[in-house]
Amino acid sequence: MTQKQDSPCILAIESSCDDTAIAVIANNKILANVVSSQKIHEIHGGVIPELAGRAHLQFIVPVYNKALELAGITAQHLDAIAYTQGPGLIGSLLVGAQFAKGLSLGLNIPTITVNHLQAHIAAHYLSDTPPQFPFLCLLVSGGHTQIVLMYSHSKIEIIGSTIDDAAGEAFDKAAKMMSIPYPGGPLIDRYAELGNPLAYSFPIAKLEGFNYSFSGLKTSLLYFIQKQTKIDPDFVDNNLNDLCASIRYTIVKTLIQTFEKAISKYQIKEIGIAGGVSANRLLRQELLILGQKHQLKVHIPPFEYCTDNAAMIAAAAHQHYLNSQFAKLSDTPFAR
Ligand code: KG4
Ligand code: ZN
Repeated sequence: MTQKQDSPCILAIESSCDDTAIAVIANNKILANVVSSQKIHEIHGGVIPELAGRAHLQFIVPVYNKALELAGITAQHLDAIAYTQGPGLIGSLLVGAQFAKGLSLGLNIPTITVNHLQAHIAAHYLSDTPPQFPFLCLLVSGGHTQIVLMYSHSKIEIIGSTIDDAAGEAFDKAAKMMSIPYPGGPLIDRYAELGNPLAYSFPIAKLEGFNYSFSGLKTSLLYFIQKQTKIDPDFVDNNLNDLCASIRYTIVKTLIQTFEKAISKYQIKEIGIAGGVSANRLLRQELLILGQKHQLKVHIPPFEYCTDNAAMIAAAAHQHYLNSQFAKLSDTPFAR
């Protein structure tokens, strides 16, 4: 193996779901960040695991070549290969893991395994003004909704989670009920900008501790749409902006309300959001308002680091490299 570097150049692979992504980082600066999003799932209203795995196989080599080209390096410049170990779809994760191991063996450099959820938070470390520990992060993606207390890069406490759907899942399921293609979150966000958030009222779950629930919203929306469609078959189309604005308002209010409760209890000075749903415009605005209200420093990732990407995997891998946390060839991906 090559000698450990103080300012390593790492190639990072993200393939946990339906985005084939590769980034190159050198001395904690991103040189390339390529994401190929699989379009095949749009027509199915959700990700089909078998199709996702096959699409990763198809895209991974072109995405790899593009990342090296954009970074202006050859594979010989690399000091390590990082890959997402989990959680995610096992068939998709395996493609990234095996590609990483092949490169590692061919180049005689180590691999680094990265946890996908920690990587969403690690996207903040790419900032010129990264969060100072401890900070409280609202992690909101398609598969997870958690409030995470970050004591350091590696010391993490999950203080609250969803007991049913994740926030992104709530957006996507609501979208499906309105025949909006997958992933519905970004489109609901866009239509919501033109609608009245108080047009319709849906339940905001208040749970013990710092936990979340979105199943009540889902059921209430389903019955509401069914009832209204009996009166006016074009109800959804005729009221799409108002429906989207009301759904977005409900989900964001649910998220912020419990996050504020956690802020008050833990008395920290810095907060942030991470994960795909942190691209949501209303959530970003509400977080800034929350920061002002409690006089906290607020960290919001740039849009390209919110939804799945490999720059965040590279950011987490950079920390692992500095701590000499390398993986073994026998390490394998995990789904959960
Ligand atoms: O983090 P991510 O890319 O993948 C997972 O790790 O799950 O998150 C994807 C989720 C999807 O549910 C998608 O609908 C949601 O993030 N999402 C949004 C927005 N952009 C992406 N939800 C609401 N508003 C957005 N602007
Ligand atoms: Zn993700």
